[in-house]
Amino acid sequence: MKSICIQRNGGPEVLQPLHVDLPAPGPGQVRVRHTAVGVNFSDINVRNGGFYLGHGPGFPLVLGNEAAGVVEAVGANVLDFAVGERVAYAGTGGLFFQDTGAYAEQRNLPASCLIHLPEDVSDEQAAALLLKGLTAAVIVHRCHLPQPGDSILIHAAASGVGSLLAQWSSHLGATVIGTVGSEAKAGFARRHGVAHAILYRHEDFVAATLKLAPDGVAAVFDGVGRDTFIKSFDCLKPFGAAVNYGNASGPVPPVDIMLLAQKGCLALHRPGFGFWGATPSTRQSACDELFDLLRQGAIQPTVSHRFALDDAAQAHRTIEQGQAIGSVLLIP
Ligand SMILES: NC(=O)c1ccc[n+]([C@@H]2O[C@H](COP(=O)([O-])OP(=O)(O)OC[C@H]3O[C@@H](n4cnc5c(N)ncnc54)[C@H](OP(=O)(O)O)[C@@H]3O)[C@@H](O)[C@H]2O)c1
Repeated sequence: MKSICIQRNGGPEVLQPLHVDLPAPGPGQVRVRHTAVGVNFSDINVRNGGFYLGHGPGFPLVLGNEAAGVVEAVGANVLDFAVGERVAYAGTGGLFFQDTGAYAEQRNLPASCLIHLPEDVSDEQAAALLLKGLTAAVIVHRCHLPQPGDSILIHAAASGVGSLLAQWSSHLGATVIGTVGSEAKAGFARRHGVAHAILYRHEDFVAATLKLAPDGVAAVFDGVGRDTFIKSFDCLKPFGAAVNYGNASGPVPPVDIMLLAQKGCLALHRPGFGFWGATPSTRQSACDELFDLLRQGAIQPTVSHRFALDDAAQAHRTIEQGQAIGSVLLIP
């Protein structure tokens, strides 16, 4: 069984194939043959090490939190899944840097982290949608629910999570202002929920946002982090929601809580997907909501790049260079 692992932290070159014998699934476990693996920015953070990962996991380490596939075998006491069924997962129950292992042809997983895939959702759609969609869901349901009359600022609005947030916010009736890194991404973003695109590497996004929404926006959804988050406070209306969910440009510096008062009694949120649909009883319904939005055409996960498992390093380079639009998949 081939997997892609790292033996040390470093650049994309540390991603190397590792052949291992997979034991039979233990009690409560299911063996899944992966057909589509979602590549996430967090995989790059785990590969690089340091940062907020503390001591991190040991080596060798197989990366990856998300995949879709087919059940190959079930262990004792597994009642909900049968051989041949299509399944998917995003995370296995712990934090995103714990219990990784999706960059592999097959994997034994706790049955409790799996969901059943409906017939009308493809494996690629599931692998492109689940982790990023659950992130969007926790933001929409727990941080700020976009509504008609709201203007929402979404950074990196052509990114995996940003694009889903833009589509979902627009579907709920909000006017989305989206920052993007290129004209091509601006075009994509406008076709995926964004009413006004700002090329934030060429234009001051605070001034541009306030020109479009002079009273300020109701919320900012930010996965870029260091380069955008604190500046974004100046875009918010009083009592607005400042939501940081990621660090694509680097970690957000420490925030003085008094700044929130000075900038208009802002609410500060730092959500994580793992806390949404976190139990077996809520996980399937959290994913079913995403599948319903997909069926309605309200959200569409775009896959800009597909790579073979052996080309995982190239997948990482594509994401790190900001070339991806929507999601990137590995196809074992
Ligand atoms: N909290 C959670 O549970 C959770 C879940 C999923 C993801 N995340 C985090 O959210 C962030 C975005 O995830 P994603 O899947 O949407 O990522 P993605 O699709 O890879 O998009 C990241 C985008 O960020 C922008 N960016 C700005 N500065 C960058 C830099 N220095 N290097 C690379 N990209 C940069 C780029 O867009 P432009 O070219 O438009 O600037 C890039 O395309 C990541 O930090 C990820 O770890 C958190």
